[in-house]
Amino acid sequence: MHLHKYEKIWLTFGFAALIIFLSVVGVSAFHQGHTPAGGLQKVDPDNLESTPPFDNPGVHEKKDGSYEVAVVAEAFGYTPGKIQVPAGEKVTFKVTSKDVTHSFSIVDTNVNMMVVPGQVNEKTHVFRDPGKYLIVCNEYCGSGHHFMSMEIEVVD
Ligand code: CUA
Repeated sequence: MHLHKYEKIWLTFGFAALIIFLSVVGVSAFHQGHTPAGGLQKVDPDNLESTPPFDNPGVHEKKDGSYEVAVVAEAFGYTPGKIQVPAGEKVTFKVTSKDVTHSFSIVDTNVNMMVVPGQVNEKTHVFRDPGKYLIVCNEYCGSGHHFMSMEIEVVD
């Protein structure tokens, strides 16, 4: 193999650039793995019964007057299947899955979360209008996917 001097320089430069590129990509991937977007909380999907707030799924009023709703998704439903929350108050949904990936999508709102086993996903919403809202699963999760739903009644 007979390389011209300049070819050698370019080859070295190209190789160095590749190493730098791979390091940057590797480091970013590493950082993302350790600080997931949105600061997701981790949870053991096999121990939800003893992990607050999932040990007590449902609506909980907090000291500041806002509400927290703990929801556990599993094929093919949500626990609890029906809740009541007041209109005009901050409602924070904390959801996780017992088995596979689902979604928690409140029809006609901007609440549309992935529900992933091992993670807690969180979204706060204020319901302006009283009425019934439907929550559906938008992630295909198996034979009962289309029947997976939950109901929220927003009261005055
Ligand atoms: Cu759960 Cu689709």
